[in-house]
Amino acid sequence: MKLSIIALGLSLLLSQNVLLAEKQHHLVLSTENTSLGITANEGGRSYIQYYGVKIAQEDMQKLFATRSNFTCLSYPTFGIGLGRGIMEALSLQMPDGNMSTDLYIQKVEQSSDKNGKYLELTMIDSVYPVEVKQYFKTYNNTDIITTWTQITNKGKKGIVMNKFASANVPIQRGDNYVCHYHGRWASENYINETPMPNGELVLDEKEGMRTAWYNNPSFMISIDGKPQEENGEVFGGTLIWGGNYKIQMVAENNKFTITAGINNDNSAYTLEAGETFTTPEFAMTYSLQGKGGVSRAFHKWGRKYGLQHGDIERDILLNSWEGVYFNVNQEKMDQMMKDIADLGGELFVMDDGWFGEKYPRNNGTSSLGDWRVNKTKLPLGIKGLTDAAKKHGIKFGIWIEPEMANTISEIYEKHPEWTLQCKNRKQTTGRGKTQIVLDLCNPKVQDYVFSITDKLLTENPEIAYIKWDCNAAMMDYGSTYLPASKQSEVEIRYHIGLRNVLKRIRDKFPDVVIQCCSSGGGRISYGFIPWFDEFWTSDNTDAYQRLYMQWSASQFYPAIAMASHVSASPNHQTSRVTPLKFRFDVAMTGRLGMEMKPEDMTKEELEFSKRAISSYKSIRKIVQMGDLYRLISPYDHKSISALMFANEAKSRLVVFAYNVDYLHSQHVPYVRLSGVDENKNYRIKDLTPWKADQPCFLNGKVISGRVLKYAGLQMKDLLNRPFTSVALELTAE
Ligand code: DGJ
Repeated sequence: MKLSIIALGLSLLLSQNVLLAEKQHHLVLSTENTSLGITANEGGRSYIQYYGVKIAQEDMQKLFATRSNFTCLSYPTFGIGLGRGIMEALSLQMPDGNMSTDLYIQKVEQSSDKNGKYLELTMIDSVYPVEVKQYFKTYNNTDIITTWTQITNKGKKGIVMNKFASANVPIQRGDNYVCHYHGRWASENYINETPMPNGELVLDEKEGMRTAWYNNPSFMISIDGKPQEENGEVFGGTLIWGGNYKIQMVAENNKFTITAGINNDNSAYTLEAGETFTTPEFAMTYSLQGKGGVSRAFHKWGRKYGLQHGDIERDILLNSWEGVYFNVNQEKMDQMMKDIADLGGELFVMDDGWFGEKYPRNNGTSSLGDWRVNKTKLPLGIKGLTDAAKKHGIKFGIWIEPEMANTISEIYEKHPEWTLQCKNRKQTTGRGKTQIVLDLCNPKVQDYVFSITDKLLTENPEIAYIKWDCNAAMMDYGSTYLPASKQSEVEIRYHIGLRNVLKRIRDKFPDVVIQCCSSGGGRISYGFIPWFDEFWTSDNTDAYQRLYMQWSASQFYPAIAMASHVSASPNHQTSRVTPLKFRFDVAMTGRLGMEMKPEDMTKEELEFSKRAISSYKSIRKIVQMGDLYRLISPYDHKSISALMFANEAKSRLVVFAYNVDYLHSQHVPYVRLSGVDENKNYRIKDLTPWKADQPCFLNGKVISGRVLKYAGLQMKDLLNRPFTSVALELTAE
């Protein structure tokens, strides 16, 4: 009753012109190098007036004073008064059928905590009992701002949310280009750069589970034409959500707006009386240093706030998958552990194939869900493996795929209703024609999925690493747990359920390292990373193709999170033959690992691998925690590709360069090191000479920063054949 009186009183007030609003707030939220300017009129609307390069507080007030034409509502709603070129962020259907929402600012609050500053805009509908809180947040010592909303039904009947985006942000309209990352299995995240057309461009994902596979939820937009690596204004944004998402860009006349959030297609969500729905955070940055500036901002933020243990160097590991596939057994695992330990590695990960009693896991057709050791393969159990790891002086990790079952499994025999399925229809199956997805909408299933990891880690506290896999799409959008009226919420509730499980795991096991794998790179997204330490970049381990995929993954995700493994040649996915040195030089630009049987390597290869691993250890901190400068892109087809990492003081650099497009007598560009300190002199060391006593001709040379930056390194004679490569460390003298 009280509420409706307030609402009525307010609606009279709010029916006035915006200028009659009670109080106008000009709000500025700044990071080290960016600013966000918002005008919020109490009793009126709120507008994003500016987002871009940092502007001093006093100057911002002048900006506010000169902007009379407020164009970008901070949270536009559907159904009443939306103009052309404006995309709604929120679309509700009220209990009486009314399709419109009309939000006015009720309160503006600013606060801070140990991580950063918050701005909170509280809005209410002029008539209906809906409250929306819109948040903007800065993160200390980074250039990232995130924004999200909380939508509350303060009434007594359900309200249907037809659209509920996280963000609505204006971009400077110019000669805009959109960069996004598109792929599929074994070919993840290829870079696409396209001029922004007039009208609408949508990036979205509907796969349900592997929601970064086809389109990654990260993108950049340049303001002044084709984006450059180290120059020009570039906006970068990503949605921190693991489920389906939708990012809409609308360019009309002078306006260019981005609306980003959970994908609302086939996903209407009923907000029950008293319920609050929190939309995922949308993270953004703005740089004057081109794409490189955007990447470095996200890498820094990602390490500090985005992923687990971003300040701890990662172990060098051997994963069993491409070495033995499903044929794991105690003897083979023991041998692999010995091999990686001998090479200087620090961790061994046993992949798929170790479990299943009634139905042994010998291929992809059975056993998911039956997470008990197969005693025929591993008579000593997991203890036998962790003991072996201890004996070899390394850590032990294990593969699981906890969100899944097979129709051939004990768990499915017991609980067929625990899997996603559409009423009255035959269940769709995936991998091995038997794989199905567990229904994480169901709290009992959440408990079960939590218990898989819990049991494994509690019974085997020596397990230091988990590879968490996910190899199916959400094939059937149906839950036996949810009532009929909530079937359209399956995908969203699945991901909320998954978040619950992951949070419980993290609360109980904060130290274990967990890899996010999803048929390779199906989940390379900040939406998953909060609970994980790294992602498996791709099932394609061909070093040549990895150059492209890692280049694009590096646009948003830091090297510390990018698992990159040296595998056999010919490569198992592409059959390409490449030298071992090339494979190491590529894998060393991420979290280095191996994915092969060292047993099969020659003495010379083993000797080289040992040296390469030792070299990687010496520069691991710079690669995993330094600043990345991409120097020559493989996508530019300039015969070579190069990148560089620098520590904060720029006193230590690591440069990698590769021949990528071998053509005889073609121009080979000089490698100019954009991230060096011009005033320092650097001594060069060849990190990975094939023969220890035959480093490349640059080894030992001292070169000034200015020369390295403006003249560059001549690599013509080093990168003069297909798949030649070089890894150099430069230390300031
Ligand atoms: C898919 C993963 O991406 C691979 O690395 C491997 O773990 C297999 N699944 C195992 O089934």
